[in-house]
Amino acid sequence: MERVAAPPGPPGHAPGIARDARRVLTDNWTGTSTVPSHGLYPHQWSWDSAFIAIGLRHMSPLRAQLELETLLAAQWRDGRVPHIVFDPAVPRGAYFPGPDFWRSSTSGRPAGAPRRTETSGIVQPPVHALAAWLVHRADPRASWRRGFLARVQPRLTAWHRYLTASRDLAGDGLPAVVHPWEPGMDNSPCWDAPLAHVTPADPESFRRADLHHGAAADRPTDLDYGRYVRLAVDYRAGGYADLGRPHAFAVEDPGLATLLALSEHALAEIALALGGDPRPHLDEAARLTEALVRRLWSPAAGQFLARDVRADALIPERSAAGLLPLALPDLPEAIAAEVLRTAEGPHFALGSAAATGLVPSYDLLGPAYDAGRYWRGPAWFNLNWLLERGLRRHGWADRAERLRAAIVGVGAASGFAEYVDPATGRPRGTRDFSWTAALVLDLLADEDPEGGLG
Ligand code: SER
Repeated sequence: MERVAAPPGPPGHAPGIARDARRVLTDNWTGTSTVPSHGLYPHQWSWDSAFIAIGLRHMSPLRAQLELETLLAAQWRDGRVPHIVFDPAVPRGAYFPGPDFWRSSTSGRPAGAPRRTETSGIVQPPVHALAAWLVHRADPRASWRRGFLARVQPRLTAWHRYLTASRDLAGDGLPAVVHPWEPGMDNSPCWDAPLAHVTPADPESFRRADLHHGAAADRPTDLDYGRYVRLAVDYRAGGYADLGRPHAFAVEDPGLATLLALSEHALAEIALALGGDPRPHLDEAARLTEALVRRLWSPAAGQFLARDVRADALIPERSAAGLLPLALPDLPEAIAAEVLRTAEGPHFALGSAAATGLVPSYDLLGPAYDAGRYWRGPAWFNLNWLLERGLRRHGWADRAERLRAAIVGVGAASGFAEYVDPATGRPRGTRDFSWTAALVLDLLADEDPEGGLG
């Protein structure tokens, strides 16, 4: 099997890689935010922007602040941070589903969508408070001068409140997603069963734009797209209301819940820095971690699983999202050790010398595993970046160092690919992908990686 990845030098000894990563972020900067990639994703994406800001802070703390501020400026009055903020300068047909589909300024009015900015109506995982804290730490003086923390704190707090109040559809203390794009891992095999009863939209009623920029084999199928469109049309028809409405798709995802808890820890740091009380945020983070363990931990699987809210049952598919709770500081150590064992076992092969060392997005032994198709197997850099933090957090420094080297090496050798074949490192999806470049840059930077958290 041909290996594409080249092993990197130790961090700090890779000026060429850092230079190339910076070039990607410079090329993808629009003046107020960063596109994930000019062709496939020509607007601003929510969780992309958070990961991008984490890397951008090393080259321009000011731009990193703006990245987050631009996104948060499109927040809805109900607290939701939309998963896409549309750039009016981009031609209407460049992306589907675009502003004419979501119609946020009209259909989203009851939920408080902005009047002058067009956005989507769904959300993505809340990485933003973590990003804001790390951005602040990169240049506290510049941050204080612009009042960055004081300006973003109320918006971040409202965002978290939206997720914990309006999205607790099961009433069990965890937020639910109502569309497979919301957990960020669009076509994960985890969603196959809950999606099976969703009637796809008529294929004649929409035209995909993604296939102009990506190989069909790397992207979700037409059948999945039909279902994505149906769910979004129905959500829009209900004015994007959450509670008290039927949802054909409602799932609790361990990745999203982990990022919310992690971001609550960051809100505690932000509150403390602003002279406030961190305790409500620490309590909330502990409550979320407890709910995550109570509702999504599977002792039999040795990892966290997603829960189908409608069926009130765990979904028996292994996604790398189920390893991410390792990043939480207050995860019980016995569970952390079990998650590590699963990550290093045959399902995910973390650190495997026979492969890239990166974890795949989905179970290597799963029936639906596909090394090239979006979230059905390929290794993604944001998931591996989060796992690297988790390993370090729990004291497994050597493993963290090996994963860090793999992320940097494979990321650079792939041309900052959107995702790669986890066995060979072969690039898939788009290239010069912003979060890949940003997270490689972050791992190359010489600084306190914890950012004081935990
Ligand atoms: N990730 C989705 C896409 O491919 C939706 O944000 O466009």
